[in-house]
Amino acid sequence: MIDRGPGGTLASNGPSGRESPDHAGARGDDGSTRSGEGNHVSDQAQVLGTLGAEPDASSPTSDPCVLLIFGASGDLTKRLLVPALYNLACDGLLSDRFALLGASMDPLTTESFRARMSEDITKFHTRHELDQKAWDDLVGRFHYMPAAFDDLGAFQRLKAEVARLDAAYQVGGNVLLYFATAPRFFGLICEQLYRAGFQDGPGWKRIIVEKPFGTDLASALQLNQDVLAHWHEDQIYRVDHYLGKETVQNLLAFRFANGMFEPLWNKHFIDNIQFNVAEAVDVEGRGGYYDSSGVLRDMMQNHMFQMLAYLCMEVPGSFDSHSIRNEKAKLLEAVRVYTPEEVARHVVRGQYGPQLDDKHQVVKPGYRQEKDVDPASKTETFAAARLHIDNWRWEGVPIYLRSGKALWKRGTEIIVEFKKAPQVIFRNTPVRELGANRLIFHIQPYQGIEIQFHAKIPGPVLQLQPVNMRFGYGQAFKASRYTGYEVMIHSCSHGDATLFSRGDLVEAAWRVAQPLLDHWKTAPVDFPNYARGSWGPTAASDLIERDGRRWFEVLSDDVLKRVEIFKNGDPLFLSQVVLALRPEVAGAGETIIRKNDMGREMYILVRGEADVLDDAGRVLKTFRDGDFFGEIALLIHTPRTATVRAQTACDLMVLDQPSLSRILHDYPQFAESVLQIARERYDLNIHPHSLVTAARG
Ligand code: BG6
Repeated sequence: MIDRGPGGTLASNGPSGRESPDHAGARGDDGSTRSGEGNHVSDQAQVLGTLGAEPDASSPTSDPCVLLIFGASGDLTKRLLVPALYNLACDGLLSDRFALLGASMDPLTTESFRARMSEDITKFHTRHELDQKAWDDLVGRFHYMPAAFDDLGAFQRLKAEVARLDAAYQVGGNVLLYFATAPRFFGLICEQLYRAGFQDGPGWKRIIVEKPFGTDLASALQLNQDVLAHWHEDQIYRVDHYLGKETVQNLLAFRFANGMFEPLWNKHFIDNIQFNVAEAVDVEGRGGYYDSSGVLRDMMQNHMFQMLAYLCMEVPGSFDSHSIRNEKAKLLEAVRVYTPEEVARHVVRGQYGPQLDDKHQVVKPGYRQEKDVDPASKTETFAAARLHIDNWRWEGVPIYLRSGKALWKRGTEIIVEFKKAPQVIFRNTPVRELGANRLIFHIQPYQGIEIQFHAKIPGPVLQLQPVNMRFGYGQAFKASRYTGYEVMIHSCSHGDATLFSRGDLVEAAWRVAQPLLDHWKTAPVDFPNYARGSWGPTAASDLIERDGRRWFEVLSDDVLKRVEIFKNGDPLFLSQVVLALRPEVAGAGETIIRKNDMGREMYILVRGEADVLDDAGRVLKTFRDGDFFGEIALLIHTPRTATVRAQTACDLMVLDQPSLSRILHDYPQFAESVLQIARERYDLNIHPHSLVTAARG
């Protein structure tokens, strides 16, 4: 066990997370589309018609309308909106009475806009092949007009053009106004639309805006005020692309369409809930935007709070958008707003430093070396928080949130950890400690739901092993070719706002985030505090350990394959090991094992350097990536033979004695590799059989 004073151990074990592409790439807040994941699409089923049950929401085609896109020459339009429209058209889900009018500052014509879109669609469509006939039909409905957002005359011309298209395509006056622009234009465009008379006439008029909605509480309040000065709340559709993810939408279906779990969904049965959004990508050239944002504004206040609301809200009276959004708002209003002291106690932040090689040379830059980032930046690229929901259902249940960039893996998971079963009936049996049952929502890239529980290991002795049951979207549903934006456009055209955020929701989320922003403005930080590609700062582990808990990590076979002894393991073996391993982080200078202690765990060093020390504290040997240590005390049941101390921050995987013993027993080849190394290291002469027996303790 890592010795880090009061606290205890760190992260917890997890099952394998199979990689599969998901997100189609959301628009960055600088107006650009996220390109890290390129043009990936969900490989899982996407169900149009969504969760909402409002009038016409189940209609197969979108409602007739003119779609007026502001910022039509930008990234979002070509990468996501047009491919989404094309998908809707190919699947017969786009009304025949539909036209697109693009507007932006670029001096394009309808012809050159069509030509540009026709070129872009070949790169960004998400189907196996481009159906030229379907595309030609769609692009023939595209039109363009240049417009400067501060020019009222341009808006009047747009209004006339919309009226012309309305008549030509018979859309009944319906206009969908999409703000695919930088957020600073939102208020201005709303004002100009109003002044040009876009409100008038028959049919519906709706506005879709992209995140971020404000950069803090004051600006969000102001923006809401600007937008609502001329438009009604029910005309505003605020996109949070996480709500377009099938796995996120399914949170509600899972909770409310199944009788099994909802009775347990409260403080009496649930110990804690963890939301984990890990990104392997860095700021991807968006340093200018990111440096004034940080992970709290970029991920937590919006995407993560949306998932939190879905998971923890009360049962709505019905599935209509008002009921659902009312419950979401109530939930976010119940999240405790922290004092500065509470921020310091319950929230930690981090910033990634460079990735170094064996010779301590920089392989990849740290955050402060990224383009357009202040070299002394205090912007957080990682944050972890313990939140409290002050309501009847969740009183006393900690809600942990963790997100960061440039981490070791990409993965979004929600972990619901149940209270443990009473240990007492297992007294006088070999069962030493019961773990918690967990329900895991794998949001991405692997998409599925998993339950972890205990099973008896076959044999005459009562021994338990953690096992799991899994549902994978890939196995259950036909693959989808969608970008995630189809459902947004389709449901907005039907006036179904379920998948969009509401003004009060956005404000409630900012109310929770604001004290963190305020505190961080002045509180000192010691950045960078985690290496690029690592498991994050140790402060995050300390935060949860103080509660006697651990972060749950979803490990994958891929991580194991980086370690020599697991490299050629067969899939069954690896899946067993993955369930047994528990990730830990050790800060530089921390003692990982101490000489003469009785060992109960062996360590696999995934990243970092750890020194073996003699009694005088001299370094005898240094372990590096892929090495393991601490096995000998388990194998021959002796006290630790040496002290091992982290020289740099270390990412470790920990295997405890019962799991090691089980794996050694079931996989003799693994036993032989471990033994071989132990023999070389300690000049030991042990037989594999005695080794297994010894490991059983
Ligand atoms: C965006 C953020 O909203 O979401 C990005 O601006 C982030 O910084 C992205 O990378 C994550 O989206 P996803 O769908 O890949 O998890």
